[in-house]
Formats: sequence, C-alpha cells, structure tokens
Amino acid sequence: MSVMRKVLLAGSTNAWLRDHATKYGFVKRSVSRFMPGEHVDDALRAAKEQQPLGIGTILTRLGENVTRAEEAEEVTQHYLDVIDKVAASSLDAQISIKPTQLGLDFDRGLCERNMDRLMERVEQRNNFLWIDMESSPYVDPTIELFRRTRAQSSRIGIAIQAYLFRTAKDIDALAPLGAAIRIVKGAYLEPPNVAYPNKADVDEGFYKLCVRLLAPDAQKPGALLHIATHDIALADRLSAYIAHNKIPKTAYEFAMLYGINRQQQLRLARDGQRLRVLISYGEYWFPWYMRRLAERPANVWFVAKNMFS
Ligand code: FDA
Repeated sequence: MSVMRKVLLAGSTNAWLRDHATKYGFVKRSVSRFMPGEHVDDALRAAKEQQPLGIGTILTRLGENVTRAEEAEEVTQHYLDVIDKVAASSLDAQISIKPTQLGLDFDRGLCERNMDRLMERVEQRNNFLWIDMESSPYVDPTIELFRRTRAQSSRIGIAIQAYLFRTAKDIDALAPLGAAIRIVKGAYLEPPNVAYPNKADVDEGFYKLCVRLLAPDAQKPGALLHIATHDIALADRLSAYIAHNKIPKTAYEFAMLYGINRQQQLRLARDGQRLRVLISYGEYWFPWYMRRLAERPANVWFVAKNMFS
C-alpha cells in the first residue's frame, strides 16, 4: 500500500481534519465530482438521468458510526422515506445502508429492529436493500445481520471485501444461502495481519471470489453477484469468463460509483450489461471522500487544481 494511500486513509478518521477541511469551497467543489449533491433529491435527479441509458441506481446517504438512538432513528426514517419516494417515482433504485448508521456501535438490538423496519418497507415496495461492509471489526456482526435478515427475505444483499484474508471462507459459508453478494476490493485502512497489502493479490482474490460465486452450486434462488469495480481489466477478464461459460445475465450485475470511470459505465450499458451506479449524497461526506481520494491518489491533484481555480 502506498504511503499516500495510508496517509489519506488515516486522515479519513481524523476529526480535526473533518471539521476544518469540509468548510473550504475548493474541497466542496472537488467532492461534487463524486456526488451530485448533498440532498436526496439531487441523487434522485441523477438516478432519473441515468435510467434511460439502461443504468440502475443504488442510493446511499453518507454517514457512519452514529452514537445516539435518535440519530439511528433519523437515518432509519430517512431511508423509509427514500424507499417511498423511489416507489412513487417508478425509479429503478435500490438502497444501501451501513450497519453503524442504524446503531450497531451501541445497541445491536436497536440496529436489528431498524433493519427489520426497513426490510418491511422494502418488501411492501418491492425494493432491495444492500448492506455496505465497513472496517474489519464490523465484518462478523455485519454478516450476522445479513444472515438474520436473509432468513426472512431475499431482498437483501451484502458487500464483501476481497482484500481480507478471511473472505474466501466467508464466501464459501454464504454461497449456500442463495445470497446477493457485492464483491468489492475494500476501502479501509487495515493491518497487514488482516488484509492483503499488495494490490495484485487483492485483484486476483476479487477474480476468484467472483468465479466462485458464479459456479453452478452457488446458483440458488436469490443468488446474485455484484461485480463492483472500476477496474476495466478485471471487469473484462470476468466478462470473458462469463461469456466462455455461458453464465446467464440473471446471475450477475456490474456496479460502479457515481462519477468514476464514466466511459466504462456507458460502455457496459451500451453492451447490454446490467449495471447499477451507486449514488452517494448527504452532508457527512468527509471520511467517504477521503476513501475515494485514497483509491486514486492522483485525485489529490484534482483537489489542488480546484484550490487555485
Ligand atoms: P482500483 O482501485 O484498482 O481502481 C481501478 C481503476 O478505477 C483506477 O485505476 C482508476 O482508473 C479508477 N478508480 C478507482 N477508484 C477511483 C477513484 N476514487 N477516483 C477516480 N478513479 C478511480 N468498499 C468497502 O470497503 N465497502 C463497501 O461496502 C463498498 N461498497 C462499494 C460499492 C460499489 C458499487 C463500488 C463500486 C465500490 C464499493 N466499495 C466499497 C469501494 C471498493 O472497496 C474500492 O475501494 C473501490 O471500488 C476502488 O476499487 P476498484 O475496484 O475500482 O479498483
């Protein structure tokens, strides 16, 4: 892992930096590249614009590690409203939450109850809910939350990170459930005893995990692979595997983030691939934005350019 990436990821959890950096106009201008706006209506507008291109949406409100029941309640209520708004506007838009937004850090029971309320609304509105994966201490409780919810509904998916040593085992355990799984490389600063430090190992792991989830024994009702990457070589390698093995389109979707490798997004849509673009919004964007910078340290120059423009 490069020094720059480490510095940026360490900065993502720094409260002083968050309080100061977010006040600057040039930082806000740089963020707008990855986020159509802070309000949910900005995200819904962007979702509406990409729908005619054949691109579906996943909506997520930024925020993590809430510390009070009232905050978790506010987030839950917000997502209940978003699910209703999506249904009312006939958008092809799913939602994605972080367990620590629903209260996981201080009251697991509350987090589960909030999840149940969201799932009830998801069922009513025929929508679908994804659970993001946060840093490694959260993997066990997040998988437990997923298993518990999956036992009641198939309208639930989970993100799993290729950079963790444990992931191949987790996938073997989850595959028999008929699970919707979003494979991502992983965005947090993890110690070398937990995660592969070398990018090449992560990339190879990502490929193998996807192949594992496309195997015939993983094709249970409710199974869906989300290939969530902007890595064109990796996506092409998986597309070649899929074509060679005549894997049906119903078994997988590509997923990417708003504002990243747009040409690849348009290419996938033009080629008739199923694609969802995750659109983030909200005021609490600092840690998330630092993780985006860390994924491509060249983005820091983009911030610097905005500072002088
Ligand atoms: P990689 O980092 O190798 O990038 C490949 C290429 O993509 C780069 O060369 C560059 O061209 C472009 N690129 C990638 N990131 C960029 C950026 N920020 N700015 C500009 N260009 C960029 N992580 C996590 O830990 N938990 C989660 O729940 C999720 N959820 C999630 C959902 C979806 C839909 C996506 C696409 C990603 C996530 N992630 C995530 C983030 C993920 O773990 C990972 O950090 C990023 O996707 C970057 O990795 P890539 O696979 O894109 O490859």
